[in-house]
Amino acid sequence: MGCLSPPPLLLLLLLLLCVARGHAASRPNFVLLMADDLGIGDPGCYGNKTLRTPNIDRLAAGGMKLTQHLAAAPLCTPSRAAFMTGRYPIRSGMASRSRVGVFIFSASSGGLPSSEITFARLLKNQGYSTALIGKWHLGTSCHNKTDFCHHPLSHGFDYFYGLTVTNLRDCKPGEGTVFTTGIQLLVFIPLQVLAITMVTLAVLNWLGLLRVPRPVFFCLLFLAALILGLLLCFLHYFRPLNCFLMRNHSITQQPMSYENLTQRLTADAVRFIQRSAEKPFLLVLSYLHVHTALFASPEFAGHSQHGAYGDAAEEMDWSVGRWLRPLSRVSPNVMLFQRAKAGG
Ligand SMILES: *[C@@H]1O[C@H](CO)[C@@H](O)[C@H](O)[C@H]1NC(C)=O
Ligand SMILES: *[C@@H]1O[C@H](CO)[C@@H](O)[C@H](O)[C@H]1NC(C)=O
Ligand SMILES: *[C@@H]1O[C@H](CO)[C@@H](O)[C@H](O)[C@H]1NC(C)=O
Ligand SMILES: *[C@@H]1O[C@H](CO)[C@@H](O)[C@H](O)[C@H]1NC(C)=O
Repeated sequence: MGCLSPPPLLLLLLLLLCVARGHAASRPNFVLLMADDLGIGDPGCYGNKTLRTPNIDRLAAGGMKLTQHLAAAPLCTPSRAAFMTGRYPIRSGMASRSRVGVFIFSASSGGLPSSEITFARLLKNQGYSTALIGKWHLGTSCHNKTDFCHHPLSHGFDYFYGLTVTNLRDCKPGEGTVFTTGIQLLVFIPLQVLAITMVTLAVLNWLGLLRVPRPVFFCLLFLAALILGLLLCFLHYFRPLNCFLMRNHSITQQPMSYENLTQRLTADAVRFIQRSAEKPFLLVLSYLHVHTALFASPEFAGHSQHGAYGDAAEEMDWSVGRWLRPLSRVSPNVMLFQRAKAGG
């Protein structure tokens, strides 16, 4: 239904952090960061002087910064399918030629097929603890709501905390809707057609050119009311049904609240790092920043020079600094590769 708006020109920044462990350099820890819609001109290390990203800049200064990268797709679902598997998304059925190329409803039965091998699965098979914190967006279940065939825990992750679908404007009250085009097509146009039909019939009836029985008018009115009712139901139930937080297989907040959301996800990442001190680990931090709905906690809201977008980007940078501290305690030898991914 409808295009996502604004068109999700996907500009992703990926930081690949390789933590070499003194005693077992062959089994490094991996932390991967993903941020939807972040532009290559946003972080300070890529030349931005007004958006403050000191923690990301620090990572770049101590590591490697790449400036050329091609994404397999410009949208969340197919580019994530490619990122997770290293294969073109069309091979896993995750590319769509229709206008909606991403999962929008948690009840969709599609998702990354079980036959696909993710890098998380490879590392898990090598004895790693593997966690995904944040957004997944590659499906949940196949046949019923508890088979979890596409869920992160079915794709090589031991631990999951976050959204199975995605952060959308419809998830945050007051932020509008991504369904404008769909509503136009399926609601406003049919309502206009119904209204014109009724007026025309009423005029023809009044002029005596056509005898229109009353029940015809009642039927048309009923149809209009039905369409409006369905729209209201859709808008009312979209948020609770599609915007929820899960920990492993359990829903922990429904609908999801944006209050201190980045703090909660970050605290979870810190706890994962701390409890994984004894074992090599993979942590994929898939931020909800800076996709719309834009949000930030009170410490960041209104504090950047670039509006809600800048607040969100700066809060994400805070999060990076927050989990880097326990990470450098777990492994003092932090080696870094950074690559910027720009698609459109
Ligand atoms: C820094 O980022 C902001 C927010 O995206 C952008 O408006 C601004 O143009 C950027 N500055 C530079 C020098 O790229
Ligand atoms: C859901 O589907 C799975 C796999 O098809 C099946 O094992 C399970 O019993 C089903 N659960 C329910 C509640 O129907
Ligand atoms: C999540 O699931 C994994 C394995 O399925 C388990 O080891 C872990 O304890 C679970 N975590 C929570 C918080 O339930
Ligand atoms: C969110 O953070 C603020 C400031 O740290 C705090 O006052 C507030 O209680 C937090 N809210 C929740 C729900 O944790």
